[in-house]
Amino acid sequence: MLCVIILFYDFRSWSSQTVSEMESVGLRAVGSHCSLSEMDDLDLNRALLDRPRLKIERKRSFDERSMSELSRHDSPRGRSVLDTPLSSARNSFEPHPMMAEAWEALRRSMVFFRGLPVGTLAAVDNTTDEVLNYDQVFVRDFVPSALAFLMNGESDIVKHFLLKTLQLQDSEKRVDRFKLGKGVMPASFKVSHDPIRETDHLVADFGETAIGRVAPVDSGFWWIILLRAYTKSTGDLTLSETPECQKGMKLILSLCLAEGFDTFPTLLCADGCSMIDRRMGVYGYPIEIQALFYMALRCALSMLKPDGDGRECIEKITKRLHALSFHMRNYFWLDYQQLNDIYRYKTEEYSHTAVNKFNVMPDSIPDWVFDFMPLRGGYFVGNVGPAHMDFRWFALGNCVSIMSSLATPDQSMAIMDLLEHRWDELVGEMPLKICYPCLEGHEWRIVTGCDPKNTRWSYHNGGSWPVLLWQLTAACIKTGRPQIARRAVDLIESRLHRDCWPEYYDGKLGRYVGKQARKYQTWSIAGYLVAKMLLEDPSHIGMISLEEDKLMKPVIKRSASWPQL
Ligand code: GLC
Repeated sequence: MLCVIILFYDFRSWSSQTVSEMESVGLRAVGSHCSLSEMDDLDLNRALLDRPRLKIERKRSFDERSMSELSRHDSPRGRSVLDTPLSSARNSFEPHPMMAEAWEALRRSMVFFRGLPVGTLAAVDNTTDEVLNYDQVFVRDFVPSALAFLMNGESDIVKHFLLKTLQLQDSEKRVDRFKLGKGVMPASFKVSHDPIRETDHLVADFGETAIGRVAPVDSGFWWIILLRAYTKSTGDLTLSETPECQKGMKLILSLCLAEGFDTFPTLLCADGCSMIDRRMGVYGYPIEIQALFYMALRCALSMLKPDGDGRECIEKITKRLHALSFHMRNYFWLDYQQLNDIYRYKTEEYSHTAVNKFNVMPDSIPDWVFDFMPLRGGYFVGNVGPAHMDFRWFALGNCVSIMSSLATPDQSMAIMDLLEHRWDELVGEMPLKICYPCLEGHEWRIVTGCDPKNTRWSYHNGGSWPVLLWQLTAACIKTGRPQIARRAVDLIESRLHRDCWPEYYDGKLGRYVGKQARKYQTWSIAGYLVAKMLLEDPSHIGMISLEEDKLMKPVIKRSASWPQL
């Protein structure tokens, strides 16, 4: 069924000063036009309205007050106040001075191709001559920029970006004599200007010039997720329905849905193929990719047309989603009970009756997990493979699991419970740790290959990345716990601007500006804007969130699962 929901901002109750302040920084007041052939917005609104009840039962989050306040009052039009930023004093929107600065910085990072905006540079750091590849438009880095623009009613740049990267997908990509799959999307691209011919052309990197020569598995997934966000936000179905976009999606998915030697529905990856783009032991079946894979599959499912090979693709996606959600919810999930079960595992079990299916050795459980795991709460572990469980906590994977509903409602709540419980470790003084804990000593030498950029509590090795604020905020809003996000925003507002919007922070608490962090890192800026706009108008969450798929089977306890496989 096609549903069209138009949400209105109520400007009347804004002070004229607030509106003009917003206009002066280029903020446009927009409604969210949502129309996709799925009911997820309606479901979402229902779910959000249901949430306060859920929370009262749990009685432990410092969000309870805010959510019950949000649900109690109805706006004059009879809508839930969750649709409007204006009905609750606690929720009122007074732009922080940092917002204006952030918008200006975001606009300074815009990249033009033949006069049209097509993306944003990774960083515009005038404090250093060492540009490296930060003068490029990274696909993953552009996502928060795109969301900020969409939330501000500026969809053109997003459309142009989607179309340009789609064209780049078509180019030939090679590493030495090896040709990469057709569906691979670039990690980044650059606009090169020929002053003699007075023309622009695009130069893309698919991993063939990147450190480690790894193709970005996440780029294609982010592209699909962004196409859906654009469609949800603008209501413009014509873009996703073009033969070019349909083909682009199928090409990306054909890389992941092909049959091979796999015995698991998860996607096998090389180290460094996502945001963590250096060797960090994030290979095999990392949560960072599996969560994005799941989300991209669900987004594609809502946009693919069931004609010709589209029908076959839809069937494959549906089957994979079923298997993937079962696998992740069962085998990647860790809470106190599960940890205790693994601790008591028998090993070397053969046949279908095996409880310890992957033959994980209890001795391989690191000491820190026993202290880290609260009695209430849980998370998706970093990786599960043969005799291998990476117990590290990863921010992106867990937040995207919530946004995409890969996590069941109970698991989503548990992830947030854990975050609250382990606030000092995971957030500390700067949101948000990219992963926890860091690798040190011998383990660091073996796993990172002695990477001097990824030393303990730095960069990808337990560093704190302000960009992750937008994903944290989305997860908070989805689970009805915006107060957690507000607490994180307060931390960001106390430092980020003063420190010139660094790329990342170092240290156990995230107190120090990262050793080699860029300043004016665009996704730190855009991530802040997205978080603020999400808190201001929670209905924006529909762009980047998917409701629970009612057709998925509920979680089955590991020991009881084999007969159902
Ligand atoms: C670093 C990050 C990567 C990001 C790039 C551009 O390489 O690890 O995730 O996309 O910088 O900001």
